[in-house]
Amino acid sequence: MRVFVVYKSGTGFTKAYAEFIAADLNGALVPFKDRRRLKPDPDAVLIFGAPIKASALPGSRWFLRNRGRFKKAYAFAVGASPADSKDLPAFLEKQKRAGLDLFYMPGGFCWEKMSRTTRFILRNFFLPAVKKAEGEESEMYRTVSHSYSQVDKKFADPLIQAVKKEIASD
Ligand SMILES: Cc1cc2nc3c(=O)[nH]c(=O)nc-3n(C[C@H](O)[C@H](O)[C@H](O)COP(=O)(O)O)c2cc1C
Repeated sequence: MRVFVVYKSGTGFTKAYAEFIAADLNGALVPFKDRRRLKPDPDAVLIFGAPIKASALPGSRWFLRNRGRFKKAYAFAVGASPADSKDLPAFLEKQKRAGLDLFYMPGGFCWEKMSRTTRFILRNFFLPAVKKAEGEESEMYRTVSHSYSQVDKKFADPLIQAVKKEIASD
């Protein structure tokens, strides 16, 4: 069964997971900007991944509109939080209520690869807001004030296994 992995990625974390998934499932990688080249295929699996931005998943409207054009569709979200973050269940539950059943993969933060505008906004608005709300010693503030990566293929395995199960039952 053909597998297409459509991904959005600003600083490379989602791309790294998309590459793990495509390599393991022998799938084709499709950057989100090229999504229109993807033809509807009722025999194929569609996988969509994007980074969480301000508690939302950019590109998910495209996924929700197009997933019915494939045999089976899966979506994953990549965020700054660790896999066991206490904030994650509420986010995933909210997305599920909106029809999006997500696999979560912990990404990271890469100040060096962010656009200048994003860096400016984070530095001048987001970081001061976190500092004010949670304090300079808070986990959240310490986490996002530097670059780090939590990327590990093991976090992509639950999605990969679900797709393999689907392919085997075909
Ligand atoms: C403007 C902005 C908003 C973000 N909002 C969230 C968020 O609400 N929750 C979260 O877990 N991560 C958030 N992040 C962190 C990204 O999701 C994280 O850095 C991710 O690994 C980026 O993936 P990418 O390298 O594929 O772009 C935000 C990052 C930026 C730049």
